[in-house]
Amino acid sequence: MKDIPLHHHGILSSRLAIGCMGFGGSWDEAEPYTLEHMKQLEAVVDAALSIGINFFDHADIYTRGKAERMFGELLAAKPSLREQIFIQSKCGIQLADEALPVRYNFSKSHIVASVDGILNRLGTDYIDLLLLHRPDPLMDPEEVAEAIELLKKSGKVKHFGVSNMHSAQIEYLRSATQEPFIVNQLHLSLAHRHFLDQELLINRNEGGAVSFDPALMPYMQQQRIQIQAWGPLAQGRYTGASRPDATEADLLTARYIEQLAQQKETSKEAILLGWLMKHPAGIQPVLGTTNAARVLACQDAERQAELMTREEWWSLYAAASGTFQPVILP
Ligand SMILES: NC(=O)c1ccc[n+]([C@@H]2O[C@H](COP(=O)([O-])OP(=O)(O)OC[C@H]3O[C@@H](n4cnc5c(N)ncnc54)[C@H](OP(=O)(O)O)[C@@H]3O)[C@@H](O)[C@H]2O)c1
Repeated sequence: MKDIPLHHHGILSSRLAIGCMGFGGSWDEAEPYTLEHMKQLEAVVDAALSIGINFFDHADIYTRGKAERMFGELLAAKPSLREQIFIQSKCGIQLADEALPVRYNFSKSHIVASVDGILNRLGTDYIDLLLLHRPDPLMDPEEVAEAIELLKKSGKVKHFGVSNMHSAQIEYLRSATQEPFIVNQLHLSLAHRHFLDQELLINRNEGGAVSFDPALMPYMQQQRIQIQAWGPLAQGRYTGASRPDATEADLLTARYIEQLAQQKETSKEAILLGWLMKHPAGIQPVLGTTNAARVLACQDAERQAELMTREEWWSLYAAASGTFQPVILP
């Protein structure tokens, strides 16, 4: 397996991770999850473990805490599981309610209380990684640093990271703490290509619409920050989901992916993820599927990243961008 930045920080994580946002049933707090939901989670965890995936991504807000609670039930039923896996969760987003809008909160009291909630729902003494979910414009790095120090000293959190942040925000947070931020989780996929567009469209008219921190990719590569991709399956846009908003470019890219998958005797998911994983940053896709069969369909992704030619990689990028029409064989 190719080394990824997480390994340099002592976390022997798999290349792929499972995102747990889809578990817990609905986002309605009052609606409980069912036995069927539990079985679905168990099947996904079993499928993941069977192909070597040992990294699970949570957030305190997913299905309003129910995803973590379900996962905690699974850990309680299989106590040996905790030591076999890495658990990451996130805090810092407060969901809207009748009285207040959605807001981000990096205050010390909120971060510390959020971690207690996470540990309580998961039924574990520690999490391997805590990410600050989305940048809080009112954040005070000194206060964040105090929270981090407290959580580290208590053993409740082993490592820290961020999500959806640009390089200046990470540097600002780092100015107050010795603790490294070892992950940045971002929306990246063949359908969400801003991280490449920013580099490729520099000094070109089409570059005007691109919104991505131009320094972010090289910064994270230099600093050995693990880039995690959320939304890596593009919600099935290229692998068989029927999407009412699909464009001509999406449909053609989907056919091209299918053709590549047939030629290479692999799955469409492996081609799609292989494209992302070919990037030298060692991007770790966080798979949002709740379907055990789809987890297994992703197994060959790392190998496909290695096998993918430069020509195929560029053709996929250009096809998804709508600037190139790959030849589809009859
Ligand atoms: N840091 C952040 O701000 C942030 C934001 C969003 C998500 N996340 C994390 O990233 C993970 C993944 O994100 P995501 O769920 O948005 O993205 P994803 O992995 O791109 O998409 C997963 C969704 O697409 C569906 N899907 C995939 N292939 C399909 C196909 N061929 N046909 C039909 N449906 C298909 C899945 O359905 P099935 O379940 O049926 O497979 C699931 O609903 C989340 O679980 C969460 O852990 C982080």
